[in-house]
Order: sequence, then structure tokens, then C-alpha cells
Amino acid sequence: MSTDDKQGLQVAVIAGSTRNGRFAPVVADWLLGHVATRDDMTADLIDLVETPLPTTFPSFGGELESGAAELIAAVSPRLESADAFVIVTPEYNHSFPAPLKNAIDWHNHQWHGKPVGFVSYGGLSGGLRAVEQLRVVLAELNAMTIRNTVSFHGAAQCFDTDGKPLDPAADAAAKTMLDQLAWWAEALREARRVRPFAA
Ligand SMILES: Cc1cc2nc3c(=O)[nH]c(=O)nc-3n(C[C@H](O)[C@H](O)[C@H](O)COP(=O)(O)O)c2cc1C
Repeated sequence: MSTDDKQGLQVAVIAGSTRNGRFAPVVADWLLGHVATRDDMTADLIDLVETPLPTTFPSFGGELESGAAELIAAVSPRLESADAFVIVTPEYNHSFPAPLKNAIDWHNHQWHGKPVGFVSYGGLSGGLRAVEQLRVVLAELNAMTIRNTVSFHGAAQCFDTDGKPLDPAADAAAKTMLDQLAWWAEALREARRVRPFAA
């Protein structure tokens, strides 16, 4: 095993909602707390409110619009250096929010050969349909999505005032998802090292 193999995993946690008054920070903070208890990974929160991406794409081979490069530069290197991702997403109209799709679409090779876990929340659905749609999108980007997810149905009623889930099953589900993420992240990091991913 090389020195690289023994380094902790870098996990980019992407908060997918930018809505004013959003519930996303409660869910994201709880997930970050879980990562903080582990000795095999560290998290980098990518909050699309703090680091918005442009919404106008250039023509093929064309120039970015003014100011776009700076916005992209605030996010892209962090996705590039990530060994794995966790997407924290609500469900909007049976899918995931537009700013999250925008952030995904600005990138390509940054996703290749890397695992993606999900924490979803919403109304009745718990964000499960958003996650299933994300799996399809991320397959196009050669990412590996993690089977087990965490979902909060009626999210606002699932947490106490300290931001802790009322149902301890959520904590168990987070551990399982992160364990699976770590397995894939280590395996794929080693695989990319031995044989760089060729799309
Ligand atoms: C535009 C919009 C569409 C929504 N569509 C759904 C939906 O299809 N299914 C669902 O279960 N909840 C839906 N909801 C409820 C959200 O998932 C829920 O309010 C969640 O907390 C929103 O995340 P946020 O507060 O971080 O933005 C919708 C909310 C919004 C604002």
C-alpha cells in the first residue's frame, strides 16, 4: 500500500438548495457532523449560495461570459480534488433543484470514476425521486452512485431544535451510506491511480 492510499478521503459535500429560507443547512450540518466523527474522511462543504455558478453556458468552443471564470474557479478545483461526493438535495417537482443541475453541468471529468452518496429530504417523497433522477444524470458523468441513501420525509418535522434527527435510524443510515462511500472512494482512488480513468 502506498503513502497515498493511507491518506484520508476528501469528500465534497454539495448542498443543492439555494432557496431563501431553505432547510438545507440543517440537513447538511447534521451530515457534516457525521463526517467529523470519522477518521477516514474529511469534508469540504460546497454551498451553492456561497459559491454560485454562472447560468449561461458559452457556445461550443466559445468564451465564457465576463466574471464566469472566477465563479467557476471557486468550485471546480474543490470538485477536482475530491475523492468522493455527498449530495444533499431536496426534491423540487419530483426532481432536484436547478442550481444543483447547473453545478453538475459545469463539470465533467471532475466526476469521472468517483463515488457519490446522497442525503435527500422533501415533503412526502423524502427526496427519493430527486435521488433517482440524480443517479441517471451522474451515470452520464461516469460517476458511481452509492446504493444506500438517507432520506427525510417531511423534513422540517424530522429534526429537533438542535438539528438532531428525532429518529435514530437516520444516524444509522448515515453511517451505512458513509461506510459504503468510503469503500468505493478508496477502491476507485486506487483504481484511478493505477489506471487513470479514460472516458
Ligand atoms: C419548488 C418546490 C417544489 C417542490 N416539490 C416537491 C415535490 O415534488 N415533492 C416533495 O416531496 N416535496 C416538494 N417540495 C418540498 C421541498 O422538498 C421541501 O420544502 C424542502 O424542505 C425544500 O428544501 P429547501 O428548504 O432546502 O429548499 C417542493 C418545494 C419547492 C420549493
